[in-house]
Amino acid sequence: MQAEPGTSGGRSLLSRITAITDLFAYPLRTSHYVELVNPLWTTHKLQARVVEVWDETKDARTLTLKPGLNWRGHRAGQHLRVGIPVGGMHYTRTYTISSPPEREDDCFTITVKAIAGGRISHHIVRNIKVGDYLPIGLPQGEFYLPDAQPVLPLFITAGSGITPAMSMLRSLIAQERLPDTAHIHYAPHEFDVIFGQELREMARKFPRYHLNLVFTHEYGEQKQTKGYFSAEQLDRLCPDWREREVYACGPPGLLAALERHFEQAGRSRHLHIERFLASFAEVPADAVGGTVRFRRSQRSVQADSKTSLLRVAEDAGMNPPHGCRMGICHTCNTTLLSGCVRDLRTGKVLNEAGSMVQTCICAAAGDCELDL
Ligand code: FES
Repeated sequence: MQAEPGTSGGRSLLSRITAITDLFAYPLRTSHYVELVNPLWTTHKLQARVVEVWDETKDARTLTLKPGLNWRGHRAGQHLRVGIPVGGMHYTRTYTISSPPEREDDCFTITVKAIAGGRISHHIVRNIKVGDYLPIGLPQGEFYLPDAQPVLPLFITAGSGITPAMSMLRSLIAQERLPDTAHIHYAPHEFDVIFGQELREMARKFPRYHLNLVFTHEYGEQKQTKGYFSAEQLDRLCPDWREREVYACGPPGLLAALERHFEQAGRSRHLHIERFLASFAEVPADAVGGTVRFRRSQRSVQADSKTSLLRVAEDAGMNPPHGCRMGICHTCNTTLLSGCVRDLRTGKVLNEAGSMVQTCICAAAGDCELDL
């Protein structure tokens, strides 16, 4: 029987054949020529073809992606890096996989919300179409359900932070082992709820799934006190929260409030958090930016004190290395040659020449020079 590309038998057969054909393909590799036939069969890089796009809400879209040969599957809750070509530049963003690993067609989905000022997320939501090929990384992240089933999970999510929870819920349902599960999800309005219809159907179909949707903008001026997370609200919506294992994903404000609350209750160990935005400190009103010089690229640009150096470099037409854009992966690290920069998460100023700078979470704090 002939082995199909993508199966383990197919891979070992392919690797034996390509070990020989690589000799003739030098200085390239066989994979570079195979890419001309089918980009998903390449082995020198991993790509995915967009096979379906689906609008979840007016500003959130799900892409169904068919990954190439090197794909290794994911665990529910993990994320991956996706390369997005825009206007001749190549950008990388990190998105959580929203589909369960149990999907049978070897595809997976990412669900992207167009965020204010986010030109790449807007491009994905508006312009990516079926048939496009996107470079992808392998799944990463520690935010997933343990193999031993959590006894009583509570998901607390907001906005597009629902995506890892959705992957976990779909996975538990696919495995027919959904335990007693509580879910509190925050969205501005009812029509902003990503996966809204599916969530309601799940709540109807599975009595063990208890869904609470909180529409924060329904409270008008009082939304801060009434709509957003509070200890009283948690007690009301999920009275047994102290007995649950909590999985939370959402904006920094919500996660910070949860961390405080669970610490005070002595339950920090039971709170598992996935951050999809870096948490930035307030930049003092009198902080100033400066001239940023990128030595290797021989460019100098003016930058303010709030814009990340990564963004400053991209706006200057450069294509610096980057991954998560939230201070986790260190792909964007470079050396500070002179001057000072500020870590936007902590407010700390780095001014020692030779310091390692994460460009995605640092901004100019005066004139500075980087080894980029
Ligand atoms: S891009 Fe990941 S740490 Fe900067």
